[in-house]
Amino acid sequence: MNNKADFNPDNLIQVEDLSEPLTYSAEAFTSREYAREEGDKIWAKVWQHAGRVEEIPEVGNFITYDVLDDSIIIVRDTPDTLKAFYNVCSHRGRQLVDKPEGGHSACGKKQNFVCGYHGWTYNLEGKCTRILDKDDWKGALNDARTHLNEIKVDTWGGWVWINMDPDCVPLREYLEPAAGLLDQFEFEEMRYHWRQWIVFDCNWKTALEAFMEPYHVEGTHPQLCVYGDFYAWSKAQGLHGHDGFDSKDPNDTSAATTIVTRAGKGPDARKTIAQMQQDFWETIRGSTTPTLVNAAQRLVDELPEDTPPEEVHEHWYESAKRDDAARGVIWPTIDPEKLAKAGLAWHIFPNMSFIPGLTFALGYRARPYGDDPNKCIFEAYALERYPKGEEPKTEWVYAEPTEEKWRKVLAQDFSNMAAVQKGMRSRGFRGALPNPHQEQKITNFHRNLARFMSRGSPQLLDK
Ligand SMILES: [Fe+2]
Repeated sequence: MNNKADFNPDNLIQVEDLSEPLTYSAEAFTSREYAREEGDKIWAKVWQHAGRVEEIPEVGNFITYDVLDDSIIIVRDTPDTLKAFYNVCSHRGRQLVDKPEGGHSACGKKQNFVCGYHGWTYNLEGKCTRILDKDDWKGALNDARTHLNEIKVDTWGGWVWINMDPDCVPLREYLEPAAGLLDQFEFEEMRYHWRQWIVFDCNWKTALEAFMEPYHVEGTHPQLCVYGDFYAWSKAQGLHGHDGFDSKDPNDTSAATTIVTRAGKGPDARKTIAQMQQDFWETIRGSTTPTLVNAAQRLVDELPEDTPPEEVHEHWYESAKRDDAARGVIWPTIDPEKLAKAGLAWHIFPNMSFIPGLTFALGYRARPYGDDPNKCIFEAYALERYPKGEEPKTEWVYAEPTEEKWRKVLAQDFSNMAAVQKGMRSRGFRGALPNPHQEQKITNFHRNLARFMSRGSPQLLDK
């Protein structure tokens, strides 16, 4: 295993190597030194999603986003523009906006940010507009010196993204090729259905990786295997990666046709889709919508028993699309080929994971917890398309990792978090053995982590 001392960029595996048997050490998950270095080498360099545009709809609306020692204020300064600043008063460094004790983040609406220490005041553009006894500085306090320290902010898919690196590439360039494959879903038209967060006893990567491959479904969510096989392809897409349903039988093309709302297995697709949809709604409350669930329940009445799965699926989608149109929710037009290409779930480097759908998405974010490699802040949220004016009002809810609070499927995923972290810390752990076909998203994640961290590249296993 390579370590920092002997890291040579030539040691970095190539994308083509991701389909080979590989291994990587637990250092990225367990080392405090590595966790500390992530601050400068990763978090200060990458675009990261800090919230949703819907959280700051009006001029003066702001949210804060914290990562390691940095807190960022994102504010709507005009109806069409956002600004992002370090949450720091220029005077003596007091945090400008306080996060409520034990809360997720700060949010609200202000026309000015006033420092609680000496009253220095900043407008929405970050300009310092009031300094008590300014003349005492004998003219040295110019705008550049007192302006809030501004960072890059942009939007894509209805998410607000920030980057602390003044020399970073534009957001769009950073997100490609993911953005190009995913624009069609129009995530910007979706709104939060629910959003919850929790602190886990595991590294942020441990938590995120629990949602980066369906290879775990048989072991973690055996009840879902009634509806389909969860064999998957998994691919690097530059910094990012995605996966989708696959089949071990080269003649079977049915599994590859759709995203998370595929027809599934079983002799009667009408029933499988109806049961699967009901189950997803009850045990995830995401990855589908009430419209899709209801349209699925009607399939047995609307179609003959021997309808081929592809036709059942098409009929289901068409009737759900009509139902949604009737209540003012217009689906995007999507080319089925593009839809199959988008796949089941995406990882956007470094810390975003989500399952896309035409009228919904299920998203995850994990962030470090100080420099403790064994803890993280984890968030999950469901997005949905709503008729205008019927979007629910949501806020971040802290929720203990129980089935009651998170429903069955996520609670099952959560049951692995601390146990994986514990196992990886054992001197008995020889390093990971990721699946070369189904877990390339994860090995690509570690390939890219190694590029940023200058160490820890996955290595080819001897055969
Ligand atoms: Fe899972």
